[in-house]
Amino acid sequence: MTTTANPTYVIIGAGRVASHFTHYFNLLKLPFNNWSRAQDPAGKDLSTLVQGDVRVLLAIKDSAIEEFVSMHPCLHGKLCLHLSGHLSTPLAYGAHPLFTFGSDLYELSAYQHIPFILETGGPSFETLLPGLKNQHYTIDKSLKPLYHSLCVLSGNFSCLLWQKFFSELEKTLHLPKEVAFSYLQQIANNLQKDSESALTGPLVRGDKVTIATNLKALEGDPFQGVYQAFVDMYEKTKQK
Ligand SMILES: NC(=O)c1ccc[n+]([C@@H]2O[C@H](COP(=O)([O-])OP(=O)(O)OC[C@H]3O[C@@H](n4cnc5c(N)ncnc54)[C@H](OP(=O)(O)O)[C@@H]3O)[C@@H](O)[C@H]2O)c1
Repeated sequence: MTTTANPTYVIIGAGRVASHFTHYFNLLKLPFNNWSRAQDPAGKDLSTLVQGDVRVLLAIKDSAIEEFVSMHPCLHGKLCLHLSGHLSTPLAYGAHPLFTFGSDLYELSAYQHIPFILETGGPSFETLLPGLKNQHYTIDKSLKPLYHSLCVLSGNFSCLLWQKFFSELEKTLHLPKEVAFSYLQQIANNLQKDSESALTGPLVRGDKVTIATNLKALEGDPFQGVYQAFVDMYEKTKQK
């Protein structure tokens, strides 16, 4: 596989990440083509797009990545990258953007601050993603499942907790969800400043009465089990 410093990107997919990357590349004025199965179900145009030196960004769902590369001989021998945090495959190099890609597109500076997590022993960041100046780090492939489970626990699961709070504020307590925004902001600030001392509340105070009252208030709610799981986890990790 011959690579140059100025390849053309081919972004595969039409989902969230594909939309954000096409936007990022547009903002940077990097040359790219976008391909998705919805635009070209028979896959006729793909072999034309991947002529010459290309970087094929597989912005498709994790479980489809290996089959997609295997099923498209025009990709064999091409430098393919996937963006999954947990997958390791000989068919494509992993470059996980440690970020969340929502439904709205972001400003250039947000994309420029995304760190990429690469696989130890793979090509350099400059070879994989030429034209990008993002921070990048490598981890061993064997650690990717753990790494990704931590991303999901911290980013996705905390999102579920905040969604629950916002929805109960509005539906049950008849308060605007905005009343909690400065609380959310300060938690993020404290975590970034000094993560070790950021936790407050009944768990750190060892306030068993409040914990019992909180659990009772969540009777019949699936989040009661979540609260209890956090109490159990906190007790176990405290003993270590
Ligand atoms: N979302 C995030 O915040 C985030 C963050 C970091 C990394 N990632 C990674 O980025 C990648 C894309 O995630 P996403 O959030 O953009 O997912 P998404 O919004 O669900 O989009 C998935 C895309 O995959 C396509 N696809 C699914 N099966 C396919 C197949 N068999 N052949 C061809 N295309 C197929 C879908 O096409 P159709 O529309 O035709 O079904 C759609 O365009 C994943 O590897 C994910 O782990 C996501």
